Amino acid sequence: MRVAVAGSSGFVGSALVAGLESAGHEVVRLVRHAPAAANEARWDPEQGVVPLARLTDVEAVVHLGGVNVGSHRWTRRFKKELHHSRIRSTTVLASALTGLSVRPRVFVCASAMGYYGPDRGRELLDEESGPGDGFLAGLCQDWEHAAQPARAADIAVCHSRFGLVIGPGGGALKPLLPLFRLGLGGHFGNGEQFWSPVSLHDTVRALRFLVEQHGCVGPYNVTAPEPVSNGEFSRVLAAELHRPRLLPVPGFALQIAIGQASSELLGSLRVVPTRLSEAGFEFEHPEVRAIIRSAL
Ligand SMILES: NC(=O)c1ccc[n+]([C@@H]2O[C@H](COP(=O)([O-])OP(=O)(O)OC[C@H]3O[C@@H](n4cnc5c(N)ncnc54)[C@H](OP(=O)(O)O)[C@@H]3O)[C@@H](O)[C@H]2O)c1
Repeated sequence: MRVAVAGSSGFVGSALVAGLESAGHEVVRLVRHAPAAANEARWDPEQGVVPLARLTDVEAVVHLGGVNVGSHRWTRRFKKELHHSRIRSTTVLASALTGLSVRPRVFVCASAMGYYGPDRGRELLDEESGPGDGFLAGLCQDWEHAAQPARAADIAVCHSRFGLVIGPGGGALKPLLPLFRLGLGGHFGNGEQFWSPVSLHDTVRALRFLVEQHGCVGPYNVTAPEPVSNGEFSRVLAAELHRPRLLPVPGFALQIAIGQASSELLGSLRVVPTRLSEAGFEFEHPEVRAIIRSAL
């Protein structure tokens, strides 16, 4: 199958391209720089430029692009960039796909479990749960809505609501590992808040599933079936690194260090992948120890 991927240079995107290619798919990478390889085609979301000629016979399009959420303090200006980069690029791509004489069957666009808000306590959240409050929840709703042109053109639009993606070399574990390796890592706040991680390996498998399986449409939580407390996550991580787990990191320290983004680490989101499971997807790393081991 021919599959186009935007945001393919990132943590998830580079693993996805490798996963698709090793499964025998032909990948067209939509890149924002001058193409440097035969499988790259330039697009410019800001100028609204999409290389339609390179998307001929593409059966699936995956869009993962947007300014990295953890790359900066969440100032007002940075929040605008986070929002704009996702809404603009999704709108441009979704609209362009409608102009193809043969449209792709499926458009998979990234979203995030932040859809459910910063803090839902112990509530079990599946795709039927309503959206939450706050910046990320609003961003995710706008992001999912931005794919509307593709939906209106009868392309099956899937929203992959990623949890904390854990894998080698990046993602949510990257800022934690140096601390835990030094034996300085502890849980955040009271440690009782739920985290909903997913291994990078299963993230790629889930994206492939949405692309390959006919009939997938709508939101899909891409989180392992067994969310854990932050305290349990920290305990397993410290044990796997053979390090003691030390004092908790207080909420105010996180607030000072990373600003509003700390609410994402201190809030509780207990998200389960009901629709992926119902569709027959099986996680190879369903619980936290396997997820952490897959990354180390
Ligand atoms: N990793 C996680 O735990 C996690 C959790 C929830 C949601 N997500 C979402 O899933 C997506 C993929 O995650 P990731 O961890 O792979 O992110 P990432 O490593 O930050 O990669 C995102 C990619 O987006 C592209 N990009 C950067 N700025 C852009 C802009 N202004 N406009 C359009 N594209 C831009 C870049 O690719 P190019 O340079 O190739 O265009 C970049 O490599 C992101 O949208 C992220 O918000 C990730």
